[in-house]
Order: sequence, then C-alpha cells, then structure tokens
Amino acid sequence: MKFKIAVAKGDGVGPEVVDGALIVLDRVSNVFGHEFEYTQVMVGGEAYDHCNDPLPAETIEKIQESQAVLFGAVGGDKWDHLPGDLRPEKAILGLRQALNVYSNIRPGILFPSFATASPLKQEIIKNGFDLCVVRELVGGIYFGEKGRDNKSGVEEAFDVERYNENEIERIARSAFQLAMKRRMKLTSVDKANVLESSKLWRQVVDRVGKDYPMVELSHLYIDNAAMQLIKDPNQFDVILTSNIFGDILSDEISMLTGSIGLLPSASIGEGTMGLYEPIHGSAPDIQGKNIANPVGAILSAAMMLEHSFNLKKEAEAIRFGVNKVFELGYGTSDIKIDGIKILGTKEMADLIAKNIC
Ligand code: IPM
Ligand code: MG
Repeated sequence: MKFKIAVAKGDGVGPEVVDGALIVLDRVSNVFGHEFEYTQVMVGGEAYDHCNDPLPAETIEKIQESQAVLFGAVGGDKWDHLPGDLRPEKAILGLRQALNVYSNIRPGILFPSFATASPLKQEIIKNGFDLCVVRELVGGIYFGEKGRDNKSGVEEAFDVERYNENEIERIARSAFQLAMKRRMKLTSVDKANVLESSKLWRQVVDRVGKDYPMVELSHLYIDNAAMQLIKDPNQFDVILTSNIFGDILSDEISMLTGSIGLLPSASIGEGTMGLYEPIHGSAPDIQGKNIANPVGAILSAAMMLEHSFNLKKEAEAIRFGVNKVFELGYGTSDIKIDGIKILGTKEMADLIAKNIC
C-alpha cells in the first residue's frame, strides 16, 4: 500500500531524530512491502529564516495533501527574541489548530529493565509502569484570549483559560475510549478547587463517564497529580487533562521513564490525519552531534502507522525492534544505566531498523 507522509524536521535535533525515524520507516517499507512517499515541509525557525513565517502557507497546503505528519522539533535561542506570532513554536501550535488534532496521546512507559535509569527510588518503580496521558491540544489557555496593556499605568499581561463543554466532551470521549482498550482506569486532572474552567471540566467528564460504566473514573487536582506521579506512577492508567496541565505532566512523566528522548506522541482528531512528534524539544545544545536519542521520533512513527494508516503489525514490529535493541544493552547517552553500550543517533536508528522483521 502507498501512504503520503509530510515530513517536518524543524530545528535543533529535529532533523537528526526524524532522519532516524525515516531509516526505520524505510526498513518497514522493505519488510512489509509498503510505499511511503515523503514530502519535506519547512517549519519553525528554519521556515522563519527562509520566508519570515514559522508556518508558511505552502507548508500547510502540502500537509493537507498528505495523510499524516511526522514532526521533529522547533525552536532555539536564535529566534527567542521574536514576537509570539513569528516564534518557531507558532508552527507546532498553528499546525495542531489547522489540523484540529484535539487529542494528544502521550504514552509513558518505564520498562522494568530501565528501572535504574529512572530518578525514582528503585522500590517505587522496580516493576516499571505503563500509563498514558491524553492531553487536550487545541484549546484552553494556549489558544484563549491573550494580551498586554498599560491601562492602569503598570504593564499587565493576560492569557485566558476557557473551555466549552463540547471541547471537554470530545477529549473526554477520546480518553475513555483509550481506557477501554487498556486497564479501564481513568484519572481526570484539573484544579476544580479554584478554577471555574476546571469545575466545568469535571462536570462534563463525570457526565461522559456515565457512557463508560466499565471504566473506573477518578479526579485529582493538578498539584496532587504531580505529587502522586512521583509517589507511585504505577497507580495510573490513562490520565486525562487540559492543554497546559498535560504539557507539564508529560514532561514530568518523561523524566520518570529515564529520558525525555524516549517518549513519542500522537495528535489526532476526528479523521485519520494525525501529527506525530517526539515530546522532547529541539535541544539546540546537542544539535548536529549525532547524540540525540531518536527513539521518541521512531516510536512516534510507529504511532503514525497504527493510528493514521491502520498498520498495527508494522507498528508492533517497530516497538519490537526498539525493545530488542534495549534488551541487547544498547542506548543513547541520555539514558543513564550502568554498562549501557552507547550509540549515536544514526547508529541507534540503524540497529533498530535491523531488528525489524
Ligand atoms: C510540547 C511542547 C510545546 C507545547 C511547545 C513547543 C509549544 O512543549 O509539545 O509539549 O507546549 O505544547
Ligand atoms: Mg511540552
């Protein structure tokens, strides 16, 4: 079968890790006889440097002609002085909105063999953990009314957190459906003891929950959730939360798994179109050194095969390849395990590809 993929490598380590994912996809195409057609599109700082726009219209057009987007990372010091609309981050935020991919799925898995890479005490994580964040991605404070003024004689700025019940309902359904496929446990995270938007969030999640009586639903305040994750990550299955809380919790979880370089994400909406990116950023400090961990990007490609192309077997083969390489004792320099055999970005991707069969 033939699939059209838009490839947005972006800035910093984005191109290196996406190249790693392409090595793996090429291998999948050979082994399983699929054709992946890649269309490179410019995003982020690179796009700004070329056409003064971090998300050029041409990029959006090419993406809309594709079936999925594989995204690297955007941003870097070089563009930090730019105003909001021209910053590289605008590319990812604008794309999420343009594609209306409201559901951001971020699995966080700690394999028992990786336990020593986690900063948590061994007695807490010796059995590993396997949870998944479902983050609302196109609403909330990220996209609410924002501004600055000096009306009162002092400089002021504001960002509004606003959710309507439809936005909450659709992300809640997405999380409940995922929980049904997993261990049937859903924790919704909010700040309903203080925020009006969170009170509505909780009300709607409770309402949607009535349609999924098999799923055990509980609610946690964000501060408590941040603490519980460190106390006992194993208590969680699916975590449903808003855009900003999901952003924060997913970085916390990534660290608990041993390295932020390992975590993939899928951003999906109503159709099969999806945006797939590692959750790590552009890490300009290690750019071009062939040391970035490509696993987050490679596992994002696996999520793409599964969600956008319905290629479950192929996605499984990629995960198998990744696990195999870890079992063989290889890793990248960000994974702090005694005795691990360190590979470069490309070598890691090559070895994973070799283990796909
Ligand atoms: C993420 C990132 C982005 C976000 C940034 C780059 C805008 O941190 O995907 O988690 O905040 O969503
Ligand atoms: Mg983030």
